[in-house]
Amino acid sequence: MDNAAPPQHIAIIMDGNGRWAKKRGLPRTAGHAAGAESFRRIANYCRTLGVRYLTVYAFSTENWKRSADEVAGIMRLLGRYLREALADMEKNRVCFRFFGDLTKLSPELQKLCHDAESLSADYDVQVNFCLNYGGRDEIVRAASNFAADVAAGKYRPEELTEELLSQYMYSRDIPDPELIIRPSGELRTSNFLLWQSAYSEYVFMNVLWPDFSPQDLDQAIEEYHRRNRRFGGT
Ligand code: FPP
Repeated sequence: MDNAAPPQHIAIIMDGNGRWAKKRGLPRTAGHAAGAESFRRIANYCRTLGVRYLTVYAFSTENWKRSADEVAGIMRLLGRYLREALADMEKNRVCFRFFGDLTKLSPELQKLCHDAESLSADYDVQVNFCLNYGGRDEIVRAASNFAADVAAGKYRPEELTEELLSQYMYSRDIPDPELIIRPSGELRTSNFLLWQSAYSEYVFMNVLWPDFSPQDLDQAIEEYHRRNRRFGGT
């Protein structure tokens, strides 16, 4: 393995937007707006580094418990970002996939997600937005869809393997993330990529997501390179 090469796939829990806003006496939505800016910076930097896949936790299945105002604010930011990204896709060379149950989103946002996915070509960086996403929910859906295929006679139950079940996940055909970063000082996985993170290296950092800089990403990648990845071997 080339130790100097960046990870092929980095995943990030964009955490700390609310605290960032609170520290400045601003509404939580201002924290999410700063978080969206931080995402833009980091996605561009990933392209510079040659990272192929960037997966971000934008909205979880649990985030609906937040105030209607905050939820609407996050959805507005996502819509604005996707509209811009659709206009600039060829210039930015960033393409998109969405992990999660999009049917709960507004018809406008669903259409933007659909357009972004269908216009995506094989660009330098692929961003996977986890939207109305939960790791357990993803596994349950995969199991249920496999069971439906068994009932339809496509497979026998004993034919199920890890590789086959992977093909029922939102991440089918995408390598698992080598590195998962959680800023903001929280030490939890919060239902993020439960299936795909089996051998990922976690790097937890004390910086809040809106303050997360390219230097912080460099630091996380250096930490990743210092780890000795054995995949259960010796
Ligand atoms: C977690 O921080 C963050 C979210 C639930 C939302 C993330 C959304 C964005 C960064 C904006 C989406 C738009 C784009 C373009 C990516 P938190 O609110 O839980 O922070 P806290 O723990 O400090 O309260």
